[in-house]
Amino acid sequence: MPDIQKIVVLTGAGISAESGLATFRGPDGLWEGRRVEDICTPEALERDRALVLDFYDHRRRALTQVAPNPAHEALARLDAEWPGELLIVTQNVDDLHERAGAARILHMHGALLSALCEGCGERRLFGGDMLDGPRCEICGQDALRPDIVFFGEMPYEMERIERAVMDADLFVSIGTSGAVYPAAGFVEAARHAGADTLELNLEPSAGSVFFHETRLGPASVMVPEWVDEILAEQAAEN
Ligand code: OAD
Repeated sequence: MPDIQKIVVLTGAGISAESGLATFRGPDGLWEGRRVEDICTPEALERDRALVLDFYDHRRRALTQVAPNPAHEALARLDAEWPGELLIVTQNVDDLHERAGAARILHMHGALLSALCEGCGERRLFGGDMLDGPRCEICGQDALRPDIVFFGEMPYEMERIERAVMDADLFVSIGTSGAVYPAAGFVEAARHAGADTLELNLEPSAGSVFFHETRLGPASVMVPEWVDEILAEQAAEN
């Protein structure tokens, strides 16, 4: 690999699959048998608030039953040991990267353990059930919704992400189907700007053709292997 300083890692539901959290697409996926528009859009929230809150309450509760797996732990090690720039951009709304110890992390699709108040616009840590009708701690209104970026809404921190993607020497995508934009477009942007691009996934994704290299296998194996490799290369250069 050429001289690598700046790394952007994009993660998706596949990195949390071996922790026991369902992915979205595929036979046992969260969207299987559900219409995404019924759950994950502002219109769905308007139409059937209870259904949407209940869906995310279940998912928030499921977080207490799972733990980070070796893939999350490997990225946390990369974060701790990589001396150059690193940004882990996750599409995941779970907190497994943080629980593994990663700090240079950004949740572009929001987070289950956060609430967004439609009254005052504040985002706050949130651990309970929203169907119970808790009020916003700041403005007191009964207007909390999951702090999840629904389809049709703008993902968080896009400017910062786009800057990092354009500046990256290496862009690595882990456990994502490449089905949802803008994340699905990061590989082309990074490659066009001169980055090396690597995909680690269980199976070829919709965007596999855009990567310089694709390695297939479970994240719990592929990610630790790659992290060992890049840290060893970095150590050998210094
Ligand atoms: P998907 O469910 O679309 O894709 C998961 C990917 O992970 C697939 O390509 C699987 O092959 C792969 N995979 C499954 N198990 C794996 C494992 N053990 N190791 C490695 N890879 C594995 O999930 P995302 O791409 O994350 O958005 O979905 C993107 C967005 O669509 C989500 O953030 C969500 C969803 O609608 C919102 O909720 C806003």
